[in-house]
Amino acid sequence: MSNPQREQRNKIVVLNPKGGCGKSTLVTNIAACYAQRGASTAVMDFDPQGSSTAWLNRRPQDLPEIHGIAAYKKSMQATRSWQLRVPNDTLNLLVDSPAGVTHDDLRELTRDASSILVPVMPSAMDIHAASRCIADLLLVAKVDRNERKLAVVANRTRKNTKSFSQLMRFLDSLGIPIIAVLRDSQNFVHSAEQGIGLHEMPPSRVAPDLEQLNRIVAWLDTWEERRKRAVALKAARQSANRDNVVQKHQFRSA
Ligand SMILES: Nc1ncnc2c1ncn2[C@@H]1O[C@H](COP(=O)(O)OP(=O)(O)O)[C@@H](O)[C@H]1O
Ligand SMILES: [Mg+2]
Repeated sequence: MSNPQREQRNKIVVLNPKGGCGKSTLVTNIAACYAQRGASTAVMDFDPQGSSTAWLNRRPQDLPEIHGIAAYKKSMQATRSWQLRVPNDTLNLLVDSPAGVTHDDLRELTRDASSILVPVMPSAMDIHAASRCIADLLLVAKVDRNERKLAVVANRTRKNTKSFSQLMRFLDSLGIPIIAVLRDSQNFVHSAEQGIGLHEMPPSRVAPDLEQLNRIVAWLDTWEERRKRAVALKAARQSANRDNVVQKHQFRSA
């Protein structure tokens, strides 16, 4: 069995300081999709509300297992790194985050992430909060836009609204993609209640929602390509900088 090192693991962080925007919904549904594929999957829940952990506890035993780590519980008996340990064979790690995170938390949560998803609801207030969250990710957590780790999922949204086009313009200006638009659907409520994902529900019932969820997973699946491209881009930049320095030096000494 392979034993993925941290940098080889697909670590997906879902965050937005606004409660109720769909973080746990994304975490649980993406985890269920990976588990259904047969890939070892873990959910690390940093939110004291424990929605993902409760979902895992409700998960029927005959469905593919997902390992749960209740990171919001702090035990005096164990070291923090012991509490947060991920099984060695975990390929996909989904990180659920709390509403309201400090700058330090933000840096910690996003460290080694292969993808960062920000679910956004369409009201003006939600868009404002999401914009700040994205700005913090870029400026505080120093997420490099060239690495293309960051994407937005519009949640409970109708596309033809003024606030949605505002959000589109804002993200366009930053080069951040909106990879899916989830409609308001009881299917997500049922999936939360039953401890299952959309991929584990009758396809005829969930088809339009599944299509959007599949878009998200298809984008997440490009993480290794994105990482390789970012490494190549960085190397090309460093080499161009070195050439510049050499040229300047030659110019001066000529
Ligand atoms: N697209 C959606 N359609 C209907 N209900 C949704 C949708 N997304 C989330 N919900 C519901 O809204 C509530 C809040 O979502 P949740 O994922 O728990 O948000 P967060 O984790 O950001 O606080 C939950 O009850 C969830 O089932
Ligand atoms: Mg939540």
